[in-house]
Amino acid sequence: MQIYYQEETRTFYLNTRNTSYVFFVNELGDLEHLYYGKRIPNVDLRYLAYRHGYPFTPYFAETGACCAPDTYFREYPFGGSGDFRICAAELGGKDVCGMISQYVSHCIKKGDARIEGLPCAHGGAESLEVTLSDCEKNIRIVLHYTVYPDCDAITRRAEIINCGRNAVRLIKAASLSLDLSGHDYERVDLAGTYMFERAVVQRNALSYGKIGSFSSKGCTGHHGNPFVALCARGADEENGEVYGFNLVYSGNYENEIEVSAKGNTRIVSGIGGGLDQTLEAGRSFRTPEAVSVFSENGLGGMSRLFHDFIREHIVPRKWAYAHRPVVVNTWETCLFDVSEEKIMGMVRSAKEMGAEILVLDDGWFRPDDKQGLGDWKIDAEKFPSGLKKLSEKLHENGMGFGLWFEPEMVNPNSDLFREHPEYAANNGKGLLSRNQLVLDFSNRTVVDFVFEKMKSVLDGLQIEYLKWDFNRYITEPCGAAGKRGAFLHNYMLGVYSLLDRITRRYPNILIESCAGGGGRFDLGMLCYSPQIWASDNTDPFNRIAIQFGTSLAYPNSVISSHVTHGVVAGFPANLRLRSATSEFGPYGYEFNPDSICIEDRILLKNWKDEVCRREELMLRGDLYRLIAEDKFVAYMLVSKDKTSALFTLIQYYFTAADEVKRVRLRGLNEKAFYRNSSDGKIYSGAVLMNAGLLLDGLVCAGGKAERIEFTQVDCL
Ligand code: DGJ
Repeated sequence: MQIYYQEETRTFYLNTRNTSYVFFVNELGDLEHLYYGKRIPNVDLRYLAYRHGYPFTPYFAETGACCAPDTYFREYPFGGSGDFRICAAELGGKDVCGMISQYVSHCIKKGDARIEGLPCAHGGAESLEVTLSDCEKNIRIVLHYTVYPDCDAITRRAEIINCGRNAVRLIKAASLSLDLSGHDYERVDLAGTYMFERAVVQRNALSYGKIGSFSSKGCTGHHGNPFVALCARGADEENGEVYGFNLVYSGNYENEIEVSAKGNTRIVSGIGGGLDQTLEAGRSFRTPEAVSVFSENGLGGMSRLFHDFIREHIVPRKWAYAHRPVVVNTWETCLFDVSEEKIMGMVRSAKEMGAEILVLDDGWFRPDDKQGLGDWKIDAEKFPSGLKKLSEKLHENGMGFGLWFEPEMVNPNSDLFREHPEYAANNGKGLLSRNQLVLDFSNRTVVDFVFEKMKSVLDGLQIEYLKWDFNRYITEPCGAAGKRGAFLHNYMLGVYSLLDRITRRYPNILIESCAGGGGRFDLGMLCYSPQIWASDNTDPFNRIAIQFGTSLAYPNSVISSHVTHGVVAGFPANLRLRSATSEFGPYGYEFNPDSICIEDRILLKNWKDEVCRREELMLRGDLYRLIAEDKFVAYMLVSKDKTSALFTLIQYYFTAADEVKRVRLRGLNEKAFYRNSSDGKIYSGAVLMNAGLLLDGLVCAGGKAERIEFTQVDCL
């Protein structure tokens, strides 16, 4: 039993393999948080409840000054309840009593529960629902918790139901609120920008007051990510206590962290940018799900828990551990200049490099980015035989087919916009970005229309892969309701409903999500699409920073990466380094295979075979980040049973100070012996993990990539 309720003390215990989460119903009927951290026995922890009155802390006459909502730890604090810290939810409306929400009932169930209209994790072990009510009984709040014992993960969400007679205004409704003792923590999150998404790993000590991260762009954005961690001060890559949080959502988010005047920490995470929904009588609002994990094994331990959780419980089951086809994508080599002739001309050499799917990116329906988006009418001059015929011809030649779409957008210069300007958000009266407008996905008619359009293209195609792009942020539109927050959330519900319908209709098409590179890299999209294009920056030196940052919260198997000619860092990198960088996640190519000499094609084919042979490590392995310096990165992927591992070193540049360097391996079995594929010798796990490997020969031009496989052998 993972979830347990102790009647006498009115305490709830949520346990995973290594963690415990405890709260109780206090004398006010409020849910008071007691503990989250390393697994402990289910004992009475109420001695930890903070009972002290301070000047200026409001209290209820019945319980007296010692039970002050502004000081004790709370599960889901409503604004206006005598608690001046950041709140989890806030309501407005004349019938709403903004006091403490009081416990009404609870139930514990096996498994998890779907959230209507929103993506969520699957395969949970047990769930708890606690129902609360405001003092006038107009508002009911249901807090949902699900435990995922093997990944040490707990998901949380809230449902707010208007049981009164009048509409209420839901100003804020977060998914998670957590109070932690003290503030000896450092906040770690991911920053970046277009072409450098999540590459900046920020780490800052907490101090009094409020800090946070957010998106107001209508998507999670290139600049940040809903993931955030709180590390105990001094925690490092492999040691120390770390709490990690993320949201199963792809729209605006906000992570607020406050150190209160009494020195304790509160984190509140949920939809950002001002929710502002009107809740009519009898209607309810469901927040997205938030995920939290706790690890004693540093940031690396936290990452591995998130990786397991995402692979097991977020990514669609069908794709979680399925072979990821090696694609060759037309974008970086052809841009809009694609044609049937060009595509068919690439097939032979693409096959020589080992590509399995040819992806026709943007340009199949328009000459540039100024027109045609939304019409999805094939350019008959470029593709005289049509897409169906093209897909058949590719398959006859032993090549799969993939297609690019950007379902949520429209060019003003399109038949769709001329016929239905009202389908664009704000009737198209707003700012342009990349010559395009956002369709009003909060309007179900628009979503239905786009679904029919996509069907008319996809039905009958022999197609294995779909690239779902999103190339601008959402600016001023506010939809029919006139409220930006409500519009943006309803927009996301429209996107999810289209994704849901497309994935149901075409269960065998693998969707790769993309947003002008990695502008929508989040757990919401991963519920439909098992991999996401991490960035338009494919320069290997930049890309490895993007991938390392992203790996803090997301597993290798979802971080799509292609070998290209791309140069951003300013100097050309050799092919081996490009390939090694791409092997980090689902592998592919983004150059014209004909531009590669036959020797390099053979080289690439051999590497692709190696990548596929080692694919299980990428799909299922445990990631250990060994070195993350300016000049080098090194990491390992270790199989769950620790019998095989892949060590990768990537070096950008060299100074004489790097001539003598050792690196200690991680994650192996200390008692086992391993064959080193580079020198053929056998080493003990204990030696590799403590004495380490010698990295020599670091002098190189255009960067260096070294991959060493370690395979367990029976004995010396
Ligand atoms: C942005 C994507 O990130 C690129 O890979 C490419 O698909 C273009 N959009 C096409 O317009």
